[in-house]
Amino acid sequence: MPQTLAVEQLQAVRLITLQRPQALNALNTELLGELAAALSAAEADPETRAVVLTGSRKAFAAGADIKEMAERDLVGILNDPRQASWQTITRFSKPLIAAVNGFALGGGCELAMHADILIAGEDARFGQPEINLGIMPGAGGTQRLLRAVGKSLAMQMVLTGEAIDARHALRAGLVSEITQPEFTVERALQIAHAIAAKAPLAVRLAKEALLKAMDTDLASGLRFERHAFTLLAGTADRDEGIRAFQDKRAPQFRGQ
Ligand code: CAA
Repeated sequence: MPQTLAVEQLQAVRLITLQRPQALNALNTELLGELAAALSAAEADPETRAVVLTGSRKAFAAGADIKEMAERDLVGILNDPRQASWQTITRFSKPLIAAVNGFALGGGCELAMHADILIAGEDARFGQPEINLGIMPGAGGTQRLLRAVGKSLAMQMVLTGEAIDARHALRAGLVSEITQPEFTVERALQIAHAIAAKAPLAVRLAKEALLKAMDTDLASGLRFERHAFTLLAGTADRDEGIRAFQDKRAPQFRGQ
């Protein structure tokens, strides 16, 4: 039984809720390990088509656990067991939607940026305050933030450590929607259920193709897209999608 998060299955959607309220969901070794394990389990479960990740109303996650960090020297950091957990989180290939209320700071902001879609409550705050601790982001913050919000705002956030609010995050393209905080999870679940009803192979390849756009040149990205598109032409779900459109009924996708 995980101690630092709750996992709930809601039909084809798995809801993972970070639960370390005493530390505003700070990402210690245990929490990151349990999160990596929960995502691996969701990855392995064919019935789970999408995952929603959330925290509490006060904090999605307030970053790496600073108390734990204080106990680690350079050798400890080089052998940090949290690295393996981050790698598992990064590799997660099903659709991942973050429902962010309250603080998403440091590693918490980096974790939210692992999600494919970010939905924020009006009170959400996103920031990379590591510079205030004499360090810098180390779980993808410099790379993913710049790709999400552009150079100027990423530089401003990382070099000053100042957070932005949900409206600013929406304008900057870091999140795709904002909601009243009490509806953030509900809205993320709605989106997850909508995705879960689509053809799984198409969803998987579309996600992969979109992610390619962030780290490859246009020609390679277009080549990948063409290959993926062609691959999907041979799937039973494509036949079903087209047949259902012609029959004027909802498609029944099987992931084949
Ligand atoms: N690590 C460990 N404990 C944390 C924490 C963190 N990142 N953030 C908050 N907590 C703890 C606090 O120490 C406090 O515990 P105690 O009551 O035992 O002292 C409890 O959570 C509640 O926090 P506050 O009393 O500080 O709550 P607040 O509402 O006054 O302030 C806050 C909220 C602005 C988020 C403030 O807690 C804060 O600044 N936290 C640190 C944020 C931060 O610097 N994150 C970056 C960490 S470094 C990193 O993330 C690097 C990386 O991944 C590579």
